[in-house]
Amino acid sequence: MDLEFSQLFHQSSKNGLKGHPAISKNENEWPSEWKTTYYKDYPRLPKIKLDGDPPSADFFELIKKRRSRRDFTDKPIRRDELSILLKYSCGNMQLRGDQYRRAQASGGARFPIEVYPIVFRSSEDLEAGLYHYNVQEHGLDTLWKRPFQDSDIHQLFTYPWVKDAAIGIVLTAVFWRNQNKYGERGYRYILLEAGHIGQNIYLASEALGLKCCALGGTRDENLEKFIDIDGIAESVVYGFALGK
Ligand SMILES: Cc1cc2nc3c(=O)[nH]c(=O)nc-3n(C[C@H](O)[C@H](O)[C@H](O)COP(=O)(O)O)c2cc1C
Repeated sequence: MDLEFSQLFHQSSKNGLKGHPAISKNENEWPSEWKTTYYKDYPRLPKIKLDGDPPSADFFELIKKRRSRRDFTDKPIRRDELSILLKYSCGNMQLRGDQYRRAQASGGARFPIEVYPIVFRSSEDLEAGLYHYNVQEHGLDTLWKRPFQDSDIHQLFTYPWVKDAAIGIVLTAVFWRNQNKYGERGYRYILLEAGHIGQNIYLASEALGLKCCALGGTRDENLEKFIDIDGIAESVVYGFALGK
């Protein structure tokens, strides 16, 4: 039987096949890479501190209300709103031992996902530009302050209404962090984790009164050039448009 590429991948990354390398039950035998939390940082770039306390919200109401919203107005998103959104979607929570738990579940706590907010519309306390979410410091690394024309946004995302959003959020994966432990099967875990973060982004948006829509429609190669990642070791996996 001829298998499509995706079927071939799925079959060959099943447990018991070559997909999942043997992992000792004794953590003392694990290489240090499997126990290290890797954070991407940009030590030479200016930092923006994030803070803000989340509003209280009824969890079950949020799930009931959640939907994909694309009818953005021209209102920008404030820094404190972005701060709460990022922290409660993928930020560090309490310490567990010498490592932090995160807002999302992560296969083997390998945390392969990096998050890049692209602020299309400046607010009074957050300028338009490209940022990286610095999880360790709960801050933004400022990669590029710059204004955006509609056509710039269209180069990055396929749907025309994304130009009306206030912020785009791009999730990338640093594949090695996970696949160093889980091999080919780790690829599944990486995409699943992006989905966990995505659901957190939807629910946090709902709690904050922000509109949110997931975007499979990302122009990956353009985004990778724009963010300055190689597209192989680190590549775009998911996107979101957010606004009011
Ligand atoms: C992985 C994924 C990718 C998506 N990509 C897009 C997209 O590119 N454009 C879009 O308009 N909606 C996109 N959506 C949103 C879906 O269209 C939406 O979730 C679906 O229609 C159900 O509607 P609801 O979210 O309002 O319940 C995506 C959703 C998921 C889960």
